[in-house]
Amino acid sequence: MKPRTPISIYIIVTIGLVIMAFEMFSQDGNYFTSPYFWVLLLITTILLLIMNSIGDLVENENYRRLSEEERQRYLQKKNTPYLQKLWNSAFKKQSQTEEKDILIDHGFDGITELDNSLPRWWIGLFWFGCIFCAVYMVAFAFTDYAHPESEYESETKTMMASIADFEKNAPVINLENAKYSADNITEGEQLFKTNCVTCHAEGGKGGIGPNLTDEYWINHSEKNLFKNVFWMLENGSPNNPTMRPFIKEGTITGRDAEKIAAYVYHINQETAPITEAKGGAAPQGEKIQWENTDN
Ligand code: HEC
Repeated sequence: MKPRTPISIYIIVTIGLVIMAFEMFSQDGNYFTSPYFWVLLLITTILLLIMNSIGDLVENENYRRLSEEERQRYLQKKNTPYLQKLWNSAFKKQSQTEEKDILIDHGFDGITELDNSLPRWWIGLFWFGCIFCAVYMVAFAFTDYAHPESEYESETKTMMASIADFEKNAPVINLENAKYSADNITEGEQLFKTNCVTCHAEGGKGGIGPNLTDEYWINHSEKNLFKNVFWMLENGSPNNPTMRPFIKEGTITGRDAEKIAAYVYHINQETAPITEAKGGAAPQGEKIQWENTDN
């Protein structure tokens, strides 16, 4: 008669499996606060305890029927700690006579082989692998667990929500409070590439829209260059609807405009103009002397 696996091992393994299942099936990963999780653990533990008591009864009954010698052997096995038994089973060496019993002789190739029984820890791992595989397949097929697409979607959603939140709470930037900052140039350049390059061409050298790098301007509602660009982005051109009111129509925010205007200021004031000789568009409008304020 073999001693049984201790109830504590069953309970630990079950808790592990329940956590694994919840980890895969729970949508938000917040199952530690869910009553289902705790009730399920409680029920399985109670079932295991009942199973253990029945096992005790059966074991007692069988024990009564053992001979004195068998009882001694049984008690000795039972008193070895479980983990030590596992360890022993992993590294057990057979005696000569035992080896004889489990020897398989292929016969035809002269190779002999020991038909060892697999160690308990190995079998345990094997079954754990099987159960994990089944749970994983079900989780993958029927829930969002480990799905790259749904993970991507949910992350995009959170990101968009946080952007919307930021836009809602961040101070609105308008013509009055927009400020030039050199830190905005790089981002402004990216935004310029997305929104403006089709008409004003690479680096603002001009195409359908005027050259933004020279000193000649058609529109100059503001005395300050940075503000003038912002004004254009807010109102569009009063003479030519091709230059749209980007902010008013909602294509870009005031925050974007502040960055784009910083970039246009940079290519106009801080770098050499792309003249006709260098492939830029011919000057349009009149030569403007911009007021040099802090902005
Ligand atoms: C669909 C083409 C088009 C796009 C896109 C466009 N613009 Fe323009 N833009 C024009 C035209 C055309 C004018 C000339 C308007 C006029 O004649 O008054 C202009 C004028 C301007 C002016 C005033 C130039 C001047 O000499 O008066 C600025 C500044 C300007 N655009 C900036 C931008 C920025 C920044 C963007 C990107 C957010 C942009 N534009 C996108 C076509 C465009």
